Amino acid sequence: MATNKGLSLVSRDDEGVDTAFRADVLTGLKQSQKAIPARWLYDDAGSQLFEDITQLPEYYPTRAETEILRDHGDEFAAMIGPDRAVVEFGSGSSVKTPLLLSAIAPSAYVPLDISGDFLRAAAQELSAKFPGLPVYPVEADFMRRVQLPGEVADAPKLGFFPGSTIGNMVARTAVDLLQTMRETLGEGSHLLIGMDLIKDEEVLVAAYDDAAGVTAEFNLNLMRRINRELGGDLPVDSLQHEARWNDDFARIEMHLVAQNDFSFSVAGQNFAMREGETIHTENSHKFDRRTGNMLLLASGWEPRARWLDGAGRFSLILAEAAQPKSAP
Ligand code: AVI
Repeated sequence: MATNKGLSLVSRDDEGVDTAFRADVLTGLKQSQKAIPARWLYDDAGSQLFEDITQLPEYYPTRAETEILRDHGDEFAAMIGPDRAVVEFGSGSSVKTPLLLSAIAPSAYVPLDISGDFLRAAAQELSAKFPGLPVYPVEADFMRRVQLPGEVADAPKLGFFPGSTIGNMVARTAVDLLQTMRETLGEGSHLLIGMDLIKDEEVLVAAYDDAAGVTAEFNLNLMRRINRELGGDLPVDSLQHEARWNDDFARIEMHLVAQNDFSFSVAGQNFAMREGETIHTENSHKFDRRTGNMLLLASGWEPRARWLDGAGRFSLILAEAAQPKSAP
């Protein structure tokens, strides 16, 4: 395994505070609808809680997508072909990634992640499972165009973006990311992308508000992180997790709802919340065939094939980098 050890991508001030985190939190808390970008949910504790979420009986997406990868390997192999360099956007999961790699006989595996620690751990695990496969981890923010290692420059690429993480972005950000992925991967590339599907509201709300309260902990952990890292005094016990379906935008929203009026400070700045007011912490958009296709087409990708799990809850779509051509 070759590692591309960069400097940390996080910028910190003299007190060790992540400056981007502080800026996002302060800006978000000043809005009339308080909102904090969902990427800050994933500190070490949050990443562990998300792993726990994927095991919950109510949280079907991980199991459904794994089932698709397990059941359709022959079709992936036929459509994608061998000897592609698989570029995974994110560190890779110990279950899903090996299913894809063993189905399609790739020439190399390139995981991209902003967190060097997760990246190296996942890459090492993968190398142990596939001893003959060259693995080139790249520590990078994949929201920006990434320079891939020279070793895979000439190989045809397959981007892999599972988990329906695309659903955590609003449409404009999702289009930007998919366009950037196309630039990173280049002409002739393919993309295999997971998209969770629109379904009964009760099933969706339960998946994001589980009976054991793990998702609530995941959401509240962001407030604990703010208190710890940004010197805040948010009254965590006065906030309650809520998952709500927004039908206009086909998305589950996670909020933290104030149970009473209170004031608090973060990084030396003062804020207040009224009972019933919320902090919006995550969107998880859901798709159908048409909206999934539209999102891909709007970003320069032509959908080629689509697979669902047996219960029809989740989709995996294979798309190809679109060539400019005349259209009516
Ligand atoms: C990472 N992402 C795809 C998850 C989702 O389903 O939107 C994050 C999550 N939030 C609450 N539960 C899971």
